[in-house]
Formats: sequence, C-alpha cells, structure tokens
Amino acid sequence: MKEKIRDLFRQTPATTVIIRNTRQSLDPAFQYFSGLDPKRFDNNILLLEKNKPHPTLLVHSMEFDEDLKRLPLHVVIIDRQKKMDLFLSQRFKNKIVGLNYDTYPYQRVLYLRKHFHPKRLVNISSGLATVRAEKTPQEIKKIKTACKITSEILEHAPEFVKKIRTEKELAEKLENEAFKTVDELAYPTIVAFGKNAGIPHHNPAPQKIGKNNFLLIDFGVKYDGYCADLTRTFFRGKPTEEQQWQYWVVSQSKKRAFELAKPGAIASDLFEAADDVIFSGFKTHIPHALGHGIGLEVHDYPTRMATKETWKLAPNQVVTLEPAIYTRSFGIRIEDDIRITKTGAEYLTRAPEELHTL
Ligand code: GLY
Ligand code: MN
Ligand code: MN
Repeated sequence: MKEKIRDLFRQTPATTVIIRNTRQSLDPAFQYFSGLDPKRFDNNILLLEKNKPHPTLLVHSMEFDEDLKRLPLHVVIIDRQKKMDLFLSQRFKNKIVGLNYDTYPYQRVLYLRKHFHPKRLVNISSGLATVRAEKTPQEIKKIKTACKITSEILEHAPEFVKKIRTEKELAEKLENEAFKTVDELAYPTIVAFGKNAGIPHHNPAPQKIGKNNFLLIDFGVKYDGYCADLTRTFFRGKPTEEQQWQYWVVSQSKKRAFELAKPGAIASDLFEAADDVIFSGFKTHIPHALGHGIGLEVHDYPTRMATKETWKLAPNQVVTLEPAIYTRSFGIRIEDDIRITKTGAEYLTRAPEELHTL
C-alpha cells in the first residue's frame, strides 16, 4: 500500500487525508488502506500523511488487539473525545486536509471545520478512484480466487437445477454452496427464468423454473473482501435455431469487446463496439453499461464502460464485460471478469460460446 499512498498524494494538494469509517457509512477506502474488516472497525479513523509510508489507525481500546501491531499500521489508542479532538486539531490546523466527499458524514465535516481549523478541505474521491482502479498483485490474486470459487459453483448449476423447482431455491442452493468456502457474497444472487430474465436485476421468486426458455444466473462470491461478478445464461429444454442464434449474438458482442480490451482503449469505444453487435442482431441497444470495475466493491473503479465514458483502459484494471439483450419474453446476459494485461486482456472467468442446455 506504500505505493498507493504515494500515488494518492500525487493526485491531491492535501498533505493529510482522513478516512472515517462509520456504521452508517462504511468507506471501502478504509479497508483498502488498512486491510481491516470495515464492519468490525465501524467507528474508526485512518489518517494518511504525505511522505509517511504507513497509515495511522486511531482505535478505541475496546477494539484494540495485539494483532493490530503486526500490520503495517501506526496504531494510536484514543478513548476520550477530548483527546481525539486534540490529536486531530494538532494534525489538521492550517493544513490542506483531504476527505472522501462520497462517504464522509456531513455533520463530521462541519465539526472538523469548526474545531480543527484546517487551511482548506479538498475532495479526494477522484484521486481514490484513480488509485483504486489499477489493482495490486495481492488484489488480483484475491479477485482471481473469488472468480475461481464462483465459476466452480456455477459449473454445478446444471446438476442443481435437476433437483430444484424454483428460482428462489436455486439462488439459495448456490449461496449455500458459496458459504461452504466464503463468508460473504459480492451481491444478491439473481436467478431469472423466461420473461423474468428480461428484467436485468430480477429478484429470484418462488416461481417455478419452467421449460423452453432461457435461465439467467448472476452470482458472485466475495473472497477476503474481493468480489467476483459472473452471469451465465443457460437454456431449459431444446433451443430453436433462432434461440441458439440469439445467444450467439450476445456471445459475439462480448467477444468483440474482449478483442478491443487493451491498455489505451477508450471505455466508450468498447461499449459502442459491443453495442453495435447487439443492435445488428436485435435492433435494440444494451440498456446498461457494458461493464464496470470490480474489486472491494462489486461496482468498483474504474466505474462504467458506457457511451460518453472517455477513460482509458490500463494494465491491471479488472473489469466485467456484460453485454445483454432483454425483451418481454426472455433475456440473455453473459458476464465475465477480465484483467487488462500489458498487451491485451485475460479472462478470469470464461463462458462457453455455445448455449448450454439443461
Ligand atoms: N451483479 C451486478 C452486476 O452485474 O453489475
Ligand atoms: Mn456486473
Ligand atoms: Mn453481475
């Protein structure tokens, strides 16, 4: 994280950054720089200082344990509000202080201004986005593990479907399988059959999984804080030639985006290329982004690969590709996670190009 702290201070005039993690507003940047579970440390402050390699964790003695000393953190135990105020005012007085405006509670901003007399407050959210967009080797390892666990569970979906009646039961089965290995999911599982698959974020219903239509499953686990985000669309029964072709169009759209995914490529160009394939097949557009970054959050940085998004792909970004078609009677989405390499991209998950029937 040393390099990432240095990178952050290249993006901001701030000389001190305060990251506040509260129960009402968990800040992923807290976990990012400390490696600590944000839910356990849900009333804590992390300070980053220019030219200091390690963050300072301000911790109440109730949350302190000896393990904290083994982390690359400077740990300060502070129990009383008065002491905390004194500590922070010493650090902030006449300094340019950076805050994440996306998460920092407004009441606390007012308090900080009034009591700690900073020279100026600056928003660091775009700096954080830049820093977090390119993953470290340790982060990539965790995302790869999350993708592997997710892919392996989804490979068993065809077996599970045989013994299961409803969307909700199938979602629960997938989640129970996940909980054998991990503690958390990356997001609520989507299982959608037939016309329900035409609703991009359908909530699995106690509704029977029928025959002769597409079955869409969007499912991902979190491993050591890091997310996978995977969608597979299967077919129940025997697809017609037209249905096979519909699936093929969506898979070609993803293939086209993957071919263009390399450092320097512009996000909106990938979207347009994938969307052209969908439009040529269905005369309708992808109604959401082609993809997004994944990491500590399922919708991580870089944010959206969509029209008008002019940011460029860069090595070690990890993003999803998820072209889709949604209609009143069916839906198809194929979503894979990829890492941008020095010269192109590699799949961390991979869907078959041909339609899998169940
Ligand atoms: N599973 C949420 C998404 O695909 O973005
Ligand atoms: Mn996604
Ligand atoms: Mn998804």
